[in-house]
This record gives sequence, structure tokens and C-alpha cells, in this order.
Amino acid sequence: MPEAEPIAPAAATRPGATAPQRVATPRRLLMCPPRHFDVNYSINPWMEPEKPTDQGSAQIQWDRLHDLYRELGHTVELIRPEPGLPDMVFAANGATVVDGKVLGARFRHVQRTAEGPAYLDWFREQGCTDILWPEHINEGEGDYLLVGRRLLAGTGFRTDPRSHAEAQEFFGVPVTGLTLVDPRFYHLDTALAVLSDDEVMYYPGAFSPGSQAVLRELYPDAVLATAADAEVFGLNAFSDGRHVLLSSAATHLIGALKARGFEPIGIDLPELMKAGGGAKCCTLELRDL
Ligand code: ARG
Repeated sequence: MPEAEPIAPAAATRPGATAPQRVATPRRLLMCPPRHFDVNYSINPWMEPEKPTDQGSAQIQWDRLHDLYRELGHTVELIRPEPGLPDMVFAANGATVVDGKVLGARFRHVQRTAEGPAYLDWFREQGCTDILWPEHINEGEGDYLLVGRRLLAGTGFRTDPRSHAEAQEFFGVPVTGLTLVDPRFYHLDTALAVLSDDEVMYYPGAFSPGSQAVLRELYPDAVLATAADAEVFGLNAFSDGRHVLLSSAATHLIGALKARGFEPIGIDLPELMKAGGGAKCCTLELRDL
């Protein structure tokens, strides 16, 4: 009688378990070149208008990210940057797209309000018809992150919690609200990153105690970032299911991702960081568009 096969442990996080084979799925992304990038106002603690910025360096760093996406097999669409909108490079904030439906962004600060209609014009030019101009303030994928079929929704600094119900009704997917409490991590995508359809990584200290409990309940095996990882914007990361693009200074996260079978790729955007933005902020995912 051959011995029964031992049952393999479910999670790859157990000591000695082999990491799962990760599979990348090609994405369609929208980016905005940083032609008019500057820091001439301050709406988050990273922005110091008195410090000089260099548009040329911003462009070179952004080009690297853009080219990397293409090398990894993703499709990158471009929106024309508008003069007078220095933060428009942060395409993640321009809208939220799920199942080909587009929820427009309505910004908290007057300096960025014109970006919402500018992004929606792009979607209309593409022939999109399933578009909602929102009633409540929401900053697009800065605060809305899709994990499988669940939309995680940040609030506390930018997106109005009433927007969460609006998004749930529009997209027809469950929306889970999470409250951010640290002003340095003012958007959900600075505190949490989606790794796959059921895995995330996050920095607990960025969330209220209740939201930390919700995250533990939903994702007991999540990769937990250290304060140092979060401070170098390591959570402002993009994952295609296999490659995870993130700040090369997030060394603890890079190790944790490797141990789980992901392929972390360091990408640094120090110029854009002066505005409080990283790789993920520059990227809007066009799901089923
Ligand atoms: N300066 C911009 C702001 O404060 C940065 C936006 C970063 N985008 C993001 N998705 N986190 O609004």
C-alpha cells in the first residue's frame, strides 16, 4: 500500500512551503506625461512648494516607468497633460474603472478639481458611455482599489465616505470602507497595495483600529509593511499578479514579496515623490475597456 500523499499546506507563507508560481496578466493602463509637473501648492505633507522641482528629471523617471510597463507586456494609453494642472500626472486619481464602467473623480481640493472633467473627456473620446459624474468627492483609484471582486475604499483625508455607497451602487460590487488616519498616507494607495485577486500588502499604522481589524479579517495572510516601507512609499505599488513595481528602498517588502513568489522590480520616482506620488499614483487601470 503506497502511503497517502501528505496534504499540501494551503498558504505559501508557512515555513518551508514553496512559493506558488505567479502568473502575470496583461493590463491596459492610462498614464499622463508629467509635462506640466510642478509643486506650486501643498495639499499633502510631502509637498513643499519652496523646494525646487525639475520637470526634466520627472519626465525621465516617468518614461522609465512607462517603458517598463510596455516591456512587461502591458498596454499603455496616454492622456494629454493640461497646463495649469501640475498633479495631472497622477492618473490613478483621474477615475475608477471596473467592468468597463467609469466613475468620474471629484477632487477635494480646488487646485485639482479641473482634472476630473479632463479625465472624463478622455473616456468620452474613447467612446465610453457607461460613465457616472459623481455626487460625492472621490479621488479615483487613489482611494478605490479592486481586490478580486471587492472594492476597498479609503476615506479620512480625501474621498467622502458617502462616495462608497455611490460606487457600490454604480459598479455593483461590494465596497468595503477603510479609514486612513496618518496624513502622510492620505490616499488608500499610499497605505495598501493589491498583489493578486485575494492578496494585499498594507501598513497597519495608516489605518484606524477598526479598519485594521477589518483588514485582518479579510486578509489574514496579508504582507504587512513596516513603517520604513511605508515612509519610502513602498505601498504605492503596481502588481500584475507576478511583477510588483515598487520603490527600491522598500527593502523589507521586497524580501517578503520574493518569499511569496512575486518578482519585485524596484522603480524610483524621486521627483514625483516631491508631490507625494509614486509609481501606482501615475497609473490608472482600464478594466474591460
Ligand atoms: N499631489 C497629489 C495630491 O496630493 C498627489 C497624488 C498622488 N496620487 C495617488 N494616487 N496617491 O493629490
